[in-house]
Amino acid sequence: MSAIFDRIKERDAQVIMRTYGRYPLAVQRAQGARLYDFDGKEYVDLLAGIAVCGLGHGRPDLARVMAEQAEKLVHVSNLFFQEEQIVLAEKLLATCQADKVFFCNSGAEANEGAIKLARRFMQVVRKREAFEIVTLEGSFHGRTLATLTATGQSGKIKDGFGPLPPGFVTVPFADACALRSAVSDRTAAVLVEMVQGEGGVRPLPAEFVDALLALRREKGFLLIVDEVQTGMGRTGRFWAHQHFGLTPDIFTTAKGLANGLPMGAVLATDEAAQGFESGCHATTFGGGGVLSAVACKVLDILAEDKLVERAAELGAWLLDEAKKLLARHPDKIAHVRGLGLMLGIELAAPGQAVWKALLEAGFVCNLAHDKVLRLLPPLTIAREDLAAFLQALDSILTRGA
Ligand SMILES: Cc1ncc(COP(=O)(O)O)c(C=O)c1O
Repeated sequence: MSAIFDRIKERDAQVIMRTYGRYPLAVQRAQGARLYDFDGKEYVDLLAGIAVCGLGHGRPDLARVMAEQAEKLVHVSNLFFQEEQIVLAEKLLATCQADKVFFCNSGAEANEGAIKLARRFMQVVRKREAFEIVTLEGSFHGRTLATLTATGQSGKIKDGFGPLPPGFVTVPFADACALRSAVSDRTAAVLVEMVQGEGGVRPLPAEFVDALLALRREKGFLLIVDEVQTGMGRTGRFWAHQHFGLTPDIFTTAKGLANGLPMGAVLATDEAAQGFESGCHATTFGGGGVLSAVACKVLDILAEDKLVERAAELGAWLLDEAKKLLARHPDKIAHVRGLGLMLGIELAAPGQAVWKALLEAGFVCNLAHDKVLRLLPPLTIAREDLAAFLQALDSILTRGA
């Protein structure tokens, strides 16, 4: 570790609250799918700020839009009509079956809004005393009190934050029988990720989704899909739920929406959107001019450069190559799974040493649940960079990390 890095680490410890287990890396600048540390060392970025910078780093086209809008109008508040926000909503709605949008600032805030919308829809529009939100084990929905309660994980995420809000039930992952027993007249919504991200890149099995949809028809709860990580083309369709041919009543997005600026959104059908009326939900910064203008440009670039199709094609190739690696190292790799440019390589044993060896070799990825190497690269990444990663992993596994 260099002296510059050591000093940064020390200063961080003095002034930043200790909530993050940081990587031994301080990034000074980034370009495309490359990160550079303070000593000028180059890394291939297979994480894209955790599925945020889908179009890659340091883009002059996005910087230009940001600067132009900043000169024109940065913030005026949601007391006013804002054209940039309307244009963005129109573009987003053209990608899906939803009819209305609420803009906010993060994934957790989008999920919090979705939960509020579902409850209010049930209680005010349907006039039912339904408030429970059912979620799945292994899920991750955010760090606010409601969304951490919805999150299907235990440990540090929840410990010491009690009392947690009531009205949340978690059932085992993809267990249709458990879901059926958990759903009752009190259920307002079932909230799922189509591919669990923080949970280790776990797609929902098609049979479970079929059972969930049948239960929705029978019981009349709302289906909320958390697309905070899977949205914006990441999985090779614009929205992951489109792989499953379903229409959520409500879904959320954030991470990739403004390629690194903090923005989230709740999207809903006209029917579900009736749950909100003037004055019942709001946020100061949501849908501000700069954010909206940048997100519009993100949507334009995704379409012009056919990046969603690219994620599907490159992701299928990557999954195939990862399966070949599994065949070469059946004792070291337990599973590979993924959808589009969201890949999980589950190691047979705890993977800290492998992850660290990859970082030293210049490849940044994430280690989920101790064993799953999680890749969420920019959708623009070169195939050669992915091939170089696979080769590096192959040699690390061959020699033993
Ligand atoms: C599926 C999912 N939902 C919600 C969140 C929370 O988003 P944020 O950190 O922007 O609040 C995340 C973040 O990783 C996520 O992956």
